[in-house]
Amino acid sequence: MIQRIREIPGGRLIAIAVAAAVAMVLILALLTNIFERQQEGRSAYQRVMAFDDTVGDPAVWGANFPRQYESYLRTVDQSRTRYGGSEAVPRTPDDADPRSIVSQSKLEEDPRLKAMWAGYAFAIDFREERGHAFMLSDQRETDRVKKKQQPGACLNCHASTYLAYRTLGDGDPHKGFAVMNAMPYEAATAKVEHAVACIDCHNPKDMSLRVSRPAFEKGIAAYKATLGHKNYDVNEDASRQEMRSYVCAQCHVEYYFDGKDTKTLTFPWSKGIKVEEIYSVYQQKQFRDWTHKTTGAAALKAQHPEFEMWSQGIHARSGVACADCHMPYVREGATKFSSHHVQSPLLTVEQSCGTCHAVSPEEMKARVENIQEKTFVLRGLALDALVEFISDLERAQKTKPNAPEIKRALEFQRQAQFYIDYVEAENSMGFHAPQEATRILGTAIDLIRQGQRALYRK
Ligand code: HEC
Ligand code: HEC
Ligand code: HEC
Ligand code: HEC
Ligand code: HEC
Repeated sequence: MIQRIREIPGGRLIAIAVAAAVAMVLILALLTNIFERQQEGRSAYQRVMAFDDTVGDPAVWGANFPRQYESYLRTVDQSRTRYGGSEAVPRTPDDADPRSIVSQSKLEEDPRLKAMWAGYAFAIDFREERGHAFMLSDQRETDRVKKKQQPGACLNCHASTYLAYRTLGDGDPHKGFAVMNAMPYEAATAKVEHAVACIDCHNPKDMSLRVSRPAFEKGIAAYKATLGHKNYDVNEDASRQEMRSYVCAQCHVEYYFDGKDTKTLTFPWSKGIKVEEIYSVYQQKQFRDWTHKTTGAAALKAQHPEFEMWSQGIHARSGVACADCHMPYVREGATKFSSHHVQSPLLTVEQSCGTCHAVSPEEMKARVENIQEKTFVLRGLALDALVEFISDLERAQKTKPNAPEIKRALEFQRQAQFYIDYVEAENSMGFHAPQEATRILGTAIDLIRQGQRALYRK
């Protein structure tokens, strides 16, 4: 070793010494950072009000952690970004009752969505999503619940269900989960009180993160099994950085209800979490969400696959979690804490992106909008193609009902519209995984081409 260093010319030796010094400084900075974080953890422990696993009220937990609690309460804030955020609008144009304020209708923004969802509840009412504070009231108020029968399974992702699952299952959350899934919506919603709360993401003993939703526990275990990890237990086996995404993936994922009476909330991940792997689960089960009113296709509805889409992007690959962007550390005086004001990171670019990207907030925002704009254009082309294909099918059904080529073409409609909806329902307009969103929309347009070919060529 010494021999080797002697062989190095003087200039290089100095370079190495400088590099070593820099490395030392970096290590010290890292240790200081870790120490600071530990201090934050500890200072968080001066409990003002007692709480444990039986206390669901976020105000009680919040009395001990006022910064996190105050930011959590701010999820009522609403501001628009070009493709995201949210904005309050009256339920109907002449509605003056402030309680009926909702977020804007996506159906009015883009009527092509109605053609895609013809005959399904989503064609009645579908709105821009907004902050966590509204999750329970928005679900109770949507026409999809008021005008259609829905199961208790809807509540898994729209309320603090931690305690309800235990009560309904006599202490066993998995049993309670099954009971609530199968209940009618009205009975189930009477069992919950709060939107997602501290108890759903945190262990009261040490405030570490935990997964509290059986559907995610099962879903992630099924997915990990495809990667060769048997008997995966998320609360035992996941790293802290993984948990910073998994707590969100309890809800921000594609799902379906399995069983006509059981309505078991299920994440279709037994073959993987890419769109084609999810689609093949639906194929295998011959699952349909509804029968398309215009064409008779066995149609599928995709729902907010943020976790699945993010997992295909460069940030997931680089170990960047949902919380890194959506719950950035913020400083208040000498204290640093995780903002619980979960919202569009474009409203907090400096805190959300600045930690890793040394670029001005304006430039960072422009980079995101550049990706989103391109996704939006391609999404429009795909929707135009789909609407045209649906009219072709409608015409064919009239002139040659039940012809074998129609049956084949309907399969293409089923798959193509699931793929388009997958990008449409994903809420980042392509940002979480730009190339993946493009690949899926390109595939959808090709499926429509094949479907039209099936219709016109024998
Ligand atoms: C690298 C940063 C980053 C990561 C990591 C990330 N997101 Fe996002 N997310 C964004 C950006 C940027 C947008 C676009 C916001 C907009 O258009 O206003 C977005 C949009 C969203 C939206 C819609 C927000 C709105 O206001 O309409 C949701 C929901 C969301 N992300 C959830 C997630 C979840 C869940 C994860 C983890 C599985 C995740 N995000 C990971 C940056 C990130
Ligand atoms: C697996 C979790 C999950 C389940 C189950 C679930 N939701 Fe949601 N829901 C979400 C997430 C995440 C959002 C926000 C993202 C979005 O709107 O795409 C949302 C948004 C909504 C919204 C506001 C935006 C809109 O679509 O108009 C309504 C209303 C809603 N859900 C109703 C329901 C109903 C009714 C059910 C039962 C049929 C249900 N949800 C089941 C996770 C879920
Ligand atoms: C949707 C999940 C979720 C909910 C709900 C939630 N938190 Fe958190 N919380 C997080 C995440 C993610 C972190 C970051 C944890 C980490 O880095 O290990 C965090 C961190 C914390 C920390 C550690 C210090 C810090 O700021 O990083 C405290 C204390 C905390 N939360 C308190 C609360 C309180 C009080 C509530 C209820 C008012 C609450 N949390 C609700 C997800 C959540
Ligand atoms: C219990 C289920 C659940 C969990 C856990 C959850 N979300 Fe949500 N999230 C929702 C629902 C439901 C909505 C839509 C509420 C509405 O529109 O009324 C939503 C809305 C959002 C929005 C849109 C906010 C806006 O202002 O437009 C973002 C961003 C978001 N969630 C990110 C996250 C992140 C990041 C995590 C993890 C730290 C997370 N969510 C954890 C269910 C959940
Ligand atoms: C914890 C670190 C981290 C955070 C926070 C983060 N990024 Fe990144 N980002 C990365 C890494 C790592 C890459 C991969 C490129 C690289 O290695 O230089 C990347 C790449 C990107 C790219 C290029 C994408 C591509 O396909 O090549 C964009 C655009 C981007 N980030 C935007 C954002 C935005 C916007 C935010 C905030 C909302 C954000 N990032 C937050 C670490 C981060």
